[in-house]
Amino acid sequence: MEGQRTTIHDCKKIDLPKVSNPAGNLTAIQQKEDVPFAIKRIYYLYDIPGGQERGAHGHKNLSQLIVAASGSFEVVLTDGKETVSYYLNRPYEGLLIKPGLWRELKNFSSGSVCLVLASEKYSEDDYLRDYKAFKAFKNV
Ligand code: TYD
Repeated sequence: MEGQRTTIHDCKKIDLPKVSNPAGNLTAIQQKEDVPFAIKRIYYLYDIPGGQERGAHGHKNLSQLIVAASGSFEVVLTDGKETVSYYLNRPYEGLLIKPGLWRELKNFSSGSVCLVLASEKYSEDDYLRDYKAFKAFKNV
């Protein structure tokens, strides 16, 4: 399974197209062009209380592109060996997260919206919700 072999170095920020307009900007994301997978699901986090943290799990098989559609937040990724932190604050920038990465989302600004494009439909079986189980999955 791909997620067992991935590292934090497989994740990266992706510049998304931005159609600039004095009347307001626009970003469109096309599957397999702007994001390297077919999009099966879109969800977004909003009304996030101050100080709240989200995530704290891994996925066995799910790829995601995370966008700060509004406001800002931090995404901390670890592969069980190394950790990296990304600050997202631009609607025209996405963070590609490959499967097999433990993620924590924190420091949400007031009114922020975390938009997620996902490569698979929702499946609880795909989650690694326990860090020890995650490390066992990664064999580290
Ligand atoms: P979860 O992925 O654990 O939240 P986060 O990583 O954002 O902190 O999901 C929170 C709850 O929402 C959990 O009970 C599962 C449910 N859920 C769905 O029903 N469908 C979905 O597409 C997602 C992502 C979550």
